[in-house]
This record gives sequence, C-alpha cells and structure tokens, in this order.
Amino acid sequence: MNADGKSRYQEVHARSLADPEGFWADAAKEIDWIEPPKTIFDPSQGIYGRWFAGGVVNTCYNALDRHVERGRADQVALIHDSPLAGSVTKLTYAELLHEVQALGAVMQDFGVAKGDRVILYMPMVPEAVVAMLACARIGAVHSVVFGGFAAKELATRIDDAQPKLILSASCGIEPGRIVQYKPLLDEAIKLAGSKPKACIVLQRPQLTCDMTPGRDYDWASLRRKAINDGKKAACVPVPATDPLYILYTSGTTGIPKGVVRDNGGHLVAIKWSMFNLYGVKPGEVWWCGSDIGWVVGHSYIVYGPLLHGATTIMYEGKPVGTPDAGAFWRVIAEHKAVAFFTAPTAFRAIRKDDPEGKFIRKHDLSKFRTLFLAGERADPPTVEWAEQQLKVPVIDHWWQTETGWCIAGNPVGLGMLPVKHGSPTVPMPGYQVDVVDEAAKPVGPNTMGSIVIKLPMPPGCLPTLWNQDERFREAYLSEFPGYYKTSDAGYKDEDGYVFVMGRTDDIINVAGHRLSTGGMEEILASHPDVAECAVLGVKDAIKGEVPCGFLVLKTGVKRAPAEIEKEIIALVRDKLGPVAAFKLAITVGRLPKTRSGKILRGTIKKIADGDSWTMPATIEDPKALDEIGEALKGRV
Ligand code: COA
Ligand code: AMP
Repeated sequence: MNADGKSRYQEVHARSLADPEGFWADAAKEIDWIEPPKTIFDPSQGIYGRWFAGGVVNTCYNALDRHVERGRADQVALIHDSPLAGSVTKLTYAELLHEVQALGAVMQDFGVAKGDRVILYMPMVPEAVVAMLACARIGAVHSVVFGGFAAKELATRIDDAQPKLILSASCGIEPGRIVQYKPLLDEAIKLAGSKPKACIVLQRPQLTCDMTPGRDYDWASLRRKAINDGKKAACVPVPATDPLYILYTSGTTGIPKGVVRDNGGHLVAIKWSMFNLYGVKPGEVWWCGSDIGWVVGHSYIVYGPLLHGATTIMYEGKPVGTPDAGAFWRVIAEHKAVAFFTAPTAFRAIRKDDPEGKFIRKHDLSKFRTLFLAGERADPPTVEWAEQQLKVPVIDHWWQTETGWCIAGNPVGLGMLPVKHGSPTVPMPGYQVDVVDEAAKPVGPNTMGSIVIKLPMPPGCLPTLWNQDERFREAYLSEFPGYYKTSDAGYKDEDGYVFVMGRTDDIINVAGHRLSTGGMEEILASHPDVAECAVLGVKDAIKGEVPCGFLVLKTGVKRAPAEIEKEIIALVRDKLGPVAAFKLAITVGRLPKTRSGKILRGTIKKIADGDSWTMPATIEDPKALDEIGEALKGRV
C-alpha cells in the first residue's frame, strides 16, 4: 500500500514488465544463495530462456535451516490436523529439520543422489512434507502422485520419471473408508517397465500392510535407526536451473505431462507471493486446504509458507462431513489462521449443508483476514455467499499446474484492488496476459479470445516438460508465436481485469481437480463392447462439472446396456481412480456428428446442461440430437 492508501500494484506490475531483471533481482534478495546467479535471465538457455542461471542454491535450506539459525527454531512450522485420523500434530522448525535430515540420510543410504527422482505416493500425513523437503535437501527430484489416482496412473508416472525410490504409506483415510495404498503401489510397480530400487512404506495405525521382502522397507525403523546413528543429511548445493520437482498433470491424451519446476525461479516467485499477494507475514499461521498431490499443495502447503517462516496447516479431512460443515471454521479458529486458500467447490459443499452459515458463528474467526479461492472459476453466487458470511475479502485467483503460482490475482500485500465478481482481478508481476484471436492478434476489451502469456514466463513457471522439450514447444508455444498458450479462454475488461471463462481443450475441472476427457475416452474405448464414445463435462451443483460418458455399443452386442454402463464406471475408477468422479455412462444408438464426422460435443453438453442450443448447420442428421435428449432424461 502507498502512503496515500492506494495499491502499489500498478507501479509494481509496470516495473516487472519494463525491467524484469531488476525486478526479479530485487525479489531474489529474499533467498539465501550458495552462489548468487550470474545472470538474472539468460535467454540463450532452455526453450525460452532460464531464470537465475549460474546461481547455486538449496531449497530445503531456505525452507528450514535458515529459520532455525535465525530464531524460529521453536516456532511451529507444521500443524497437521486430521479429523479423519482424530489427531493434531505440531512440529517446530527445529523438529521438522531434524526429521528431514534423518530421512534425507536414509534416502542417501539407498544411493539417492542429486538429480535422482523419487516418487511420493502418500496421503496427507506430515511424513509427506518431510519427504518432499528431504528430497529437496539432497538434491533429488520429487514427484508426488495424488492418492486418489489408480495404479495405472501411478505406473505411467513411474515409467516417465524412472524413480530410484518410491515413498508410500499403508493407507489413506477417506470418510467412511480406508484406502489401501499398498495393493495400488504393488500393481503399479508390476505394470511399470521401470522398477524402483526400493520402497519405503509408512505403516499407519489405521491399517498396516504386508511388506514385499527385499523391496519394501519400514519407514519408522529406518527413521529410528538413522536418528540413533546420528545420521543427518547436509544440504546439497544445486544449480538454480536444476529441477526441484516434477508434477504430472492432465494433458489432452491419457499420457500426463511432467511439469518441471526449477529450484531458483520457484524459490524467488513463491517467496515473493507470500506477502505481496497473500498478505501473510513471517510467524503468522496460514492454511491452504488443498492436497500435496496438486500444485496448490506443493506451493502453498509446503514451500511458500515455510520459505516465508510462517506456520503452515496441513489438513486431512473434507469441508463437510468431517464431522460437519463447520470443519473449516474449527481449524481456522483453533490454529488462529490469518488466511485460508481453498477451491470454490468446497464452499459450494459447505453452503449446501449450512446455507445460513450457522456453523461459522460458532467459532472465533477474529484472527482470520482473507479467503483465497482458486482451482476453477469462482462463480459469483458462491463468492457473494462467502463474503456475506465471513465478512472478510474473498479473493479469486487464477493459476495452473504449469505456472506454479498465480497468473492473475488481487495482491493483498501490495494493497487490494476493488473486487469484481467473476474475475480473478489482474496479472501478477512478470505476467503480460493478452487475449488474442486465432492469428495471435490481441483483441479489444470485453472480447473473448484465447488467453496467452507473453514470453518469457516469470520465474516459477515451468521451463519445460520432463524429458519432452518438443511436446512442451508443441503444446504450449507453437500455436501463438511469442506466447505461452494457457488453453483457457476469456477476456479482459477496460480496467485490465482478466475473466477466465473455460478451457479451449478437453480438460475439465471436477471439484477443483483437473482431468482430461480424452484420457477417459481412451479408457471407455478399451471396453470390448464399446464401438464409439464421447466424454464431456456436465454441470454439477457442488463439483462444478462432472464427467458424463456416452457409449455406442458394437453391433451384435446382446448384453443389457445397464450392465455394460456399470462395467464402464468401474473401469474408469480402476484405471484412472476415484478422483475422476465418473458415475454417468449413458448408452446411445449413435453420437451426433457433423457431416465431416466430428462429434458435436458442445451441443451435447448444452443439451445435458439444460442450456439453450441451436441446431448446428453442419449436422449430419438432426434427429441424433433428439436421441441424446431422450437418453439423458432422468439421468442428469
Ligand atoms: N485417496 C483416495 N481416494 C480419494 C482421495 C485420496 N487422496 N481423494 C479423493 N478420493 C476419492 C473420494 O473418496 C471420492 O470417492 P467416492 O467416489 O468413493 O466417494 C472420489 O475420490 C472423489 O473425491 P472428491 O472429488 O474429493 O469428492 P468428494 O465427494 O469426496 O468431496 C468436495 C467433494 C467438494 C468436498 C471435495 O472435492 C473438496 O474438498 N474439494 C476441494 C478440492 C481442492 O482443494 N482442490 C485443490 C485445488 S485448489
Ligand atoms: P490446475 O493445473 O489443476 O491448477 O488447473 C488449471 C486450470 O484450472 C486452469 O487452466 C483453469 O482452467 C482452471 N482454473 C484455475 N483457477 C481458476 C480461476 N481462479 N478461475 C478460472 N479458472 C481457473
């Protein structure tokens, strides 16, 4: 905020574009470098240039050691709050460092060294944070796989990342059921061509698992032995441009994209965001209610708050049902969180159970200052409800796995700008966000187009895809020369506010989880009775969107369609995982197509959503759309 009470945003953003090197060199002063970068941005390296080339750094040192050395040893670093396990666990910065040093040493004993990959297939337990930081400490590259993915998805990631080690746990806990991780892990390793040297498995008391002799090692025993032997991994210096992690995200096919995050750019951007965007000060308590399997969890459960010397809350529970719609308010009040970051879907779930906000008023939220929403479009009714109930600013912000941090948001630390419902507000420093037409020409205000980011991307954004430079170029840089394609469509208004309205590809957003309908179609098509299929996202009051699959059966198939539909639902759960929330499979006689054979997905979606639609001029047979309408009756 300026002395006159006005936001500093305009001047800060303008400087970041006019003098990016000066801007990010200043931001980089917040990081402890082993060797400072030789150049702030080197356009000759990598696909579109590299940030902080020549710098040497260790991310874990910046997240833990420096705070312990400078007076935060006894401050709580991590609060693990699990209504599902019925526990609250707190680790100070010194205790967290101690755990990380021990696990780092354990991994080094397995031969893990700088640049080696380690996959973490873990539920939301403190050990998962310890594991991420221990990888960062020894220079290993972690790749966290979300627990709601099935064995095949894990296998694909094992084959791509080729990890030396996999760290996992006996189980996750979902309301009403224990999710056994071990059978999924075993199946994934069986399916994968690349085999890890070993697995370190955390036995959780809720359900223990059998260990595979010669391959699986007990986490607790290894930890105890390392501590008893006084083993402590030191921080391994790594080039700023080396990868800190790979995080797989849905692409337009079933093969996920391995988003690479570098050490230096990530450190600088994420640290910058903690105060300037989120308005959080070192020493304060911050809560990001995501999962460590998603980018939001990486950046704002683990790295952001710890780099900043804040206290971070890790929550193993749901917004409703654990035990009620007051769960979030209980956590905020009990741990005195000043800011909270979640997905709009969670608020829709709370609002449904507690429309009058009765649970909110049962808790002391006096320390709570700001609510941040991301992961999907924040629909204005949900934002308005949250504002009225919580009486704090509700800030929508837009980002992607690829960028690792916010593209457009409302910078609380710089001074908030007026909120416009439906807009995540304005581009953050380093982002020149344009809306362009098909010829990559910027369009005027309030005109829909493809949202693109001028190259180079700011620090923190992906420099490439793991082992797939060409796919990176082709998927993101080739369509709009000089720009990164976000695959989101929308517009900017006359004040430069960005409005993100939807994807231009086959990605759908289910309860804030990013999924590819193309990937689901591959699974449907693998069923022996299916001749043709289409999967699209249809409106859902809580999850925003849910997938709906249309099936055309092979000629001569005699079995009841309902039986096949059930098998299809089970197949998606088995191959992709429960997170897909694929519960709608509908058999139709044929799929409506254009005369050139393209499936009319847009029109089918409108019919399913109950939106108004017009008959496409290019349709092959208009009756096919009536048939879709008939098939949908009573199903959505
Ligand atoms: N391990 C195993 N299974 C998991 C899982 C995990 N880590 N996470 C979710 N699942 C399962 C769920 O149990 C559910 O299974 P079911 O079909 O047997 O019920 C399925 O995957 C779908 O899960 P989810 O999308 O979480 O739906 P839900 O009905 O359990 O909960 C919400 C709905 C809205 C409460 C929940 O999705 C939510 O809190 N979303 C917020 C998401 C978020 O924070 N995203 C981060 C982006 S910012
Ligand atoms: P993910 O990579 O899982 O973070 O998903 C990124 C996608 O989610 C974006 O490309 C958008 O389509 C969508 N998204 C995320 N945040 C927002 C937001 N605040 N507003 C609109 N869409 C969003």
